Amino acid sequence: MRLSPVIDTKLILLFLFLGAVQSNALIVNLTDSKGTCLYAEWEMNFTVTYETTNQTSKKTITIAVPDKVTHDGSSCGDDRNSAKIMIQYGSAVSWAVNFTKEASQYLIHDIVLFYNTSDSTEFPGAVPKGVVTIKNPNKLKVPLDVVFKCNSVLTFNLNPVVQHYWGIHLQAFVQNGTVSKNEQVCEEDQTVTTVAPIIHSTAPATTTTLTPTSTPTPTPTVGNYSIRNGNTTCLLATMGLQLNITEEKVPFIFNINPSTTNFTGSCQPQTAQLRLNNSQIKYLDFIFAVKDEKRFYLKEVNVNMYLANGSAFNISNNNLSFWDAPLGSSYMCNKEQVLSVSRTFQINTFNLKVQPFNVTKGEYSTAQECSLDDDTILIPIIVGAGLSGLIIVIVIAYLIGRRKTYAGYQTL
Ligand SMILES: *[C@@H]1O[C@H](CO)[C@@H](O)[C@H](O)[C@H]1NC(C)=O
Ligand SMILES: *[C@@H]1O[C@H](CO)[C@@H](O)[C@H](O)[C@H]1NC(C)=O
Ligand SMILES: *[C@@H]1O[C@H](CO)[C@@H](O)[C@H](O)[C@H]1NC(C)=O
Ligand SMILES: *[C@@H]1O[C@H](CO)[C@@H](O)[C@H](O)[C@H]1NC(C)=O
Ligand SMILES: *[C@@H]1O[C@H](CO)[C@@H](O)[C@H](O)[C@H]1NC(C)=O
Ligand SMILES: *[C@@H]1O[C@H](CO)[C@@H](O)[C@H](O)[C@H]1NC(C)=O
Ligand SMILES: *[C@@H]1O[C@H](CO)[C@@H](O)[C@H](O)[C@H]1NC(C)=O
Ligand SMILES: *[C@@H]1O[C@H](CO)[C@@H](O)[C@H](O)[C@H]1NC(C)=O
Ligand SMILES: *[C@@H]1O[C@H](CO)[C@@H](O)[C@H](O)[C@H]1NC(C)=O
Repeated sequence: MRLSPVIDTKLILLFLFLGAVQSNALIVNLTDSKGTCLYAEWEMNFTVTYETTNQTSKKTITIAVPDKVTHDGSSCGDDRNSAKIMIQYGSAVSWAVNFTKEASQYLIHDIVLFYNTSDSTEFPGAVPKGVVTIKNPNKLKVPLDVVFKCNSVLTFNLNPVVQHYWGIHLQAFVQNGTVSKNEQVCEEDQTVTTVAPIIHSTAPATTTTLTPTSTPTPTPTVGNYSIRNGNTTCLLATMGLQLNITEEKVPFIFNINPSTTNFTGSCQPQTAQLRLNNSQIKYLDFIFAVKDEKRFYLKEVNVNMYLANGSAFNISNNNLSFWDAPLGSSYMCNKEQVLSVSRTFQINTFNLKVQPFNVTKGEYSTAQECSLDDDTILIPIIVGAGLSGLIIVIVIAYLIGRRKTYAGYQTL
């Protein structure tokens, strides 16, 4: 019998030495039988002020991540147990963080720093007060299945210690062994002012460079959704979906991962519904209607999901008119299309094809294409132009080649 996956957890801890900044980046990649279960990459340092035996003065030192650290006690956690990262710098300093899983999110909390002022190598001249514990009261909620990124320096002033964290790249409770493609960028990174340059240049291939502003979100994976009525397929949809919620100053961009999303739906003569749901989205409904007995369109979108901060987000609009096409055909749009559902909620679709009515033999009928795709006519022209260019190059190369051989023969 297999015990909990934590048992066969193995931990990989790497350090990247950044000459310019004199700080080591920490990379913690915890794995279990399924693959990665916790991934974290970050940098930190602490400025500690302590009393010295010399009555009159206090001393302030900066503790950076040394070359050698240990990570005893780190664990992946599960639904019941919190995940932990624990880092020890020799015997005098240690640091820990807890992650607690809730329904669709987890909480980053209990960031604790312990340092032993009795250790005279780390704290020269200190009054030996033993171990000092600094607990950071800040809590942060992060959705599941999202990589939290923060390149900006986060500063926590917890007298007598100032903590700095930066270059954060974190996913706790990784599901099914693979780090997510969805990301959430911290608010601090969204301000347009350039962030103090944090040099990531010497990072090896594992580290994707964190861009301080407007991190480009990857395009979502295209999913195939089909609904059956009895034993026949009655609705087909193929699309990559990206949700953009602008409730807060910082848009929350969320790519729907088809492999972790369930779908259900129903088909009636005048209306059809496709409902998606996953750990983050309670439901996302696409409701189609028929108009004038001749055409179909997307009439309604309802969403109920959790936001980055863990609160519920709820929007409905039943007065839409997107994806309009004749009954008996499908609607297609390869380009990115933006469906504005409300002032604060838009859906970006990619490689869309949808047919909510009159599906025959489980296949799409002829598609009506969106106007955005119209410039596809340019493609044959570009390809054609490219081809004729290639032909010219080949002809020239051939002529030169011939001349060379000719010349060669002459000298012989
Ligand atoms: C973490 O380690 C696993 C196993 O060694 C590896 O497959 C995975 O790519 C690593 N993840 C990252 C993000 O480096
Ligand atoms: C103690 O503090 C005084 C004044 O700040 C300084 O002159 C002296 O060198 C200090 N002594 C030690 C042992 O640090
Ligand atoms: C982390 O969570 C555990 C419970 O799982 C709790 O006892 C502990 O105080 C928390 N904090 C740290 C730093 O471990
Ligand atoms: C703190 O450091 C002193 C001196 O190195 C040592 O004797 C003591 O055991 C340490 N305390 C703890 C709790 O590690
Ligand atoms: C659908 O199911 C019905 C009854 O279960 C059966 O008579 C019919 O042949 C099935 N049709 C197809 C296309 O499988
Ligand atoms: C999200 O929506 C906001 C406001 O409509 C817009 O400015 C931003 O460009 C959108 N982002 C994406 C990735 O669609
Ligand atoms: C989460 O963010 C939304 C949008 O800014 C806000 O209305 C809501 O109060 C926040 N919830 C919590 C728990 O902070
Ligand atoms: C993980 O895999 C299980 C079983 O294959 C599946 O039910 C679940 O939805 C998957 N979750 C994620 C987030 O990939
Ligand atoms: C629905 O939208 C149309 C045009 O977009 C608008 O004229 C109409 O007032 C809207 N109806 C409702 C109930 O919002």
